[in-house]
Amino acid sequence: MNSETAQRIHRQDYTPPPFLVDSVELDVHFNAGEVLVSSQLQLRRNPAAAAQPAPLQLDGQGLETISLAIDGTPLGADDYRCTSSTLTIDNPPDALTLTTQVRIDPDNNSSLSGLYRSKDGYFTQCEAQGFRRITWFPDRPDIMSRYQVTLHADKASLPVLLANGNPAGSGDQGNGRHWAKWEDPFAKPCYLFALVAARLDVLRDEFTTSSGRSVQLAVFVEPGKLDQCAHAVDALQRAMRWDEEVFGLECDLDHYMIVAVGDFNMGAMENKGLNVFNTKYVLARADTATDADYQNIDRVVAHEYFHNWTGNRVTCRDWFQLSLKEGLTVYRDQEFGADMHSRAVTRIREVRALRAMQFPEDAGPMAHPVRPDSYIEINNFYTSTVYDKGAEVVRMIETLIGKEAFRRGMDLYFERHDGQAVTCDDFVAAMADASGVDLTQFKRWYDQAGTPHLWASGHYDEQARTYTLTLSQSLLASATAANAEALQSPLHTPFHIPVAVGLNGAHGEDMPLMIAGEGSAAGSGRTTRVLSLTEFEQQFVFEELPAAPVVSLLRDFSAPVILDFSWSDEELAHLLAHDSDPFNRWEAGQRLASRLILAAAEDLSVGRPAYWPQSFVEAAARLLEHASDDPAFAAEALTLPGEATLAEEMTVVDPSALHDARNGLRRFVAEQLGNALLHCYTTHADDAPYQATPAAAGRRALRNVCLSYLGELHSDEARALAMRQFESADNMTDQFAALATLAQDDCQERVLALASFYERWHDEALVVDKWLSVQAASRLPDTLAVVRGLLEHPAFDLRNPNKVYALLNTFGNNHVRFHAADGSGYHFLATQIGELDRLNPQVAARLARRFDRWRKFDEPRQQQASFALEKLHSLAGLSPDVREIVGRALE
Ligand code: ARG
Ligand code: ZN
Repeated sequence: MNSETAQRIHRQDYTPPPFLVDSVELDVHFNAGEVLVSSQLQLRRNPAAAAQPAPLQLDGQGLETISLAIDGTPLGADDYRCTSSTLTIDNPPDALTLTTQVRIDPDNNSSLSGLYRSKDGYFTQCEAQGFRRITWFPDRPDIMSRYQVTLHADKASLPVLLANGNPAGSGDQGNGRHWAKWEDPFAKPCYLFALVAARLDVLRDEFTTSSGRSVQLAVFVEPGKLDQCAHAVDALQRAMRWDEEVFGLECDLDHYMIVAVGDFNMGAMENKGLNVFNTKYVLARADTATDADYQNIDRVVAHEYFHNWTGNRVTCRDWFQLSLKEGLTVYRDQEFGADMHSRAVTRIREVRALRAMQFPEDAGPMAHPVRPDSYIEINNFYTSTVYDKGAEVVRMIETLIGKEAFRRGMDLYFERHDGQAVTCDDFVAAMADASGVDLTQFKRWYDQAGTPHLWASGHYDEQARTYTLTLSQSLLASATAANAEALQSPLHTPFHIPVAVGLNGAHGEDMPLMIAGEGSAAGSGRTTRVLSLTEFEQQFVFEELPAAPVVSLLRDFSAPVILDFSWSDEELAHLLAHDSDPFNRWEAGQRLASRLILAAAEDLSVGRPAYWPQSFVEAAARLLEHASDDPAFAAEALTLPGEATLAEEMTVVDPSALHDARNGLRRFVAEQLGNALLHCYTTHADDAPYQATPAAAGRRALRNVCLSYLGELHSDEARALAMRQFESADNMTDQFAALATLAQDDCQERVLALASFYERWHDEALVVDKWLSVQAASRLPDTLAVVRGLLEHPAFDLRNPNKVYALLNTFGNNHVRFHAADGSGYHFLATQIGELDRLNPQVAARLARRFDRWRKFDEPRQQQASFALEKLHSLAGLSPDVREIVGRALE
């Protein structure tokens, strides 16, 4: 496809499908070198479609059509029109059976969309528009059909044959071939279709639902990996129980299968009853997977399972509604994660990720609303905005209407829409109707791109014993509370922002929250109140305050906004030490650190030395002192904001000054607190063998943060410490953390550790990914040369997305090296994107997103970046996927 045929699709153009497909019967024959797909569709005119009879149109991609028939009669040349992507039948009967036979070539399908080969097996990925690569079909989510699928294949090489639903027969058919038939009792959109034909090992288990139904669970993995499946099965069972307990949602399936595959574009896919997963989110063993891997597996397994209700039972009318299922399901997996691990630390990590990914996205060329207005390639909109900001929007609804009303809203949503393909409006309507809260203005969050700025100022009146809080909002970063008038542009109607507030007293105690005009009962006894900011500017007066409070704003990050309030350094230190809201304790520390790093970056960029105050070290020392109270929290509080996040706060980014400033502060802390760090490291050691429990993981996180600070000293002692940990660790968390620390240090230990790590793990694909990424993430000046060299290493494979993400995407996220002043990082990545695009446009387009923020850098860097992007953009045969991303970046 070229740019002329790539069309922009608009949300406003939605029309119901002219035909519905009631049932689908597929026969899939795996032959040597080809796959034949016979399909029988029962179609009928959609009673809800437009009155004038439209033709029947089906989608296809890469199909070699062998035969076509309607009601058993082969189609003549005049009966239809066929292009490479559409099959049109002009005057079809109102109800018909359409039979098609096509040949497809999964062995050469490197896009990993549709049916494709990975190693020696065959797998599918149909979301968003992969089903059209398997057979002719009206490929859109508002057409739901019942499926029967029969697979035929060589028994020795493809012994496992799976599809959605329940087994409905299997057998041998002679000459070494066998067949298996599957029937899915649920009507589903074609993006939830899946099949697998491969050689796989399986771990089976069972789950009994709250009403006593038994569900057969099965996790299929590459032969030899059964000892890495237990955690995924356990996560699945916990997720199933959790959804019953928290949302009253029971599993509707007899069989729930998860298949892990090493070649996969994204994380995982919620195909009805037959999830297909990237191996990364299934396989785990103490010595191969880190604590973060274990927790990600929990979350992704839960996410895909939760989709069975939020996505499958109730699905999306069209792809603009993607956040209907993704935002809601991320919110659900976040809540699951919070209940499984520490709620506060879970929230902190999510907000850290939101700021590192979604805020830059919302400020860059790919900014789009949670519900986008248009797209060229839908796969480019599986974004942090749709997923993570979408989850924040759902969370804000919960905050505004309360937990119980939110649950009633979910119940009402399923009561109204089970079995339907619906819109974000339907979801919000259920929440509004169940709660009685008017969410009309709130819906602006779905339609308006950009991160709102929230300005706050406070004033304490000693005489009146009142604290007046003024809040104002705008989408314009440059506006200030002082020119609030300018904010009120007709283009920017205000958001409905829930602002959770607490007031801290001198000793860290929560003060009463009584708001003028409400009567004293309303606020007494509450330590946090959620204010609704619905106008451009509003004031809230808190009464009966005996002394000036330190205000704690946006507790638990109650809205995805950029908050501006001029706390003094002392007030931030007070909040860091005392706020009853753990998120805001962490946040206060992040603010303090950001202030220092940004000021230092400015100093360094004009040749002045950085200034590091002792007060910051004192705050860090207090954190270390109390670290045992909550090691996981202490680890988060000691971790400085990342470079990409900090860069968003700079007008013109100087990446090397920023990098030096951030690492300068780390080194200063290490120099001042070396003993305390070492003490903390030693006292949190575990003698017990590895356990993936939150408590043990928290201790490891804390120790490894201490180790990484000590690494900043580049001392023999620190190197020896890291090397000792690297060699003696009984688990990947500690081994990898030691390697990551050494990888930042130009020393002999680094070379030894990297070599021995590869030597030991070269047969474990997922561990090799870690080896690649730790090198691509290194701050050492020769990192680009190393990455170039690794392209040629047998460990790397441009066809495997995990390898591409590990090496190339990690390099693109290596702020100081990717944004090298000479443009070398830009030219390197652009060239790789061009190469990759010929194999896998989806992954190439994801990689191209690393260029999003190029305009934030200085003139010489901008020149290099635009040169690299222009060159990429002009490549012959560039995919619509990459073209859309690069085109927007250059706009
Ligand atoms: N629905 C999947 C999920 O749970 C994502 C699949 C998207 N795949 C794609 N190629 N766009 O997150
Ligand atoms: Zn999802």
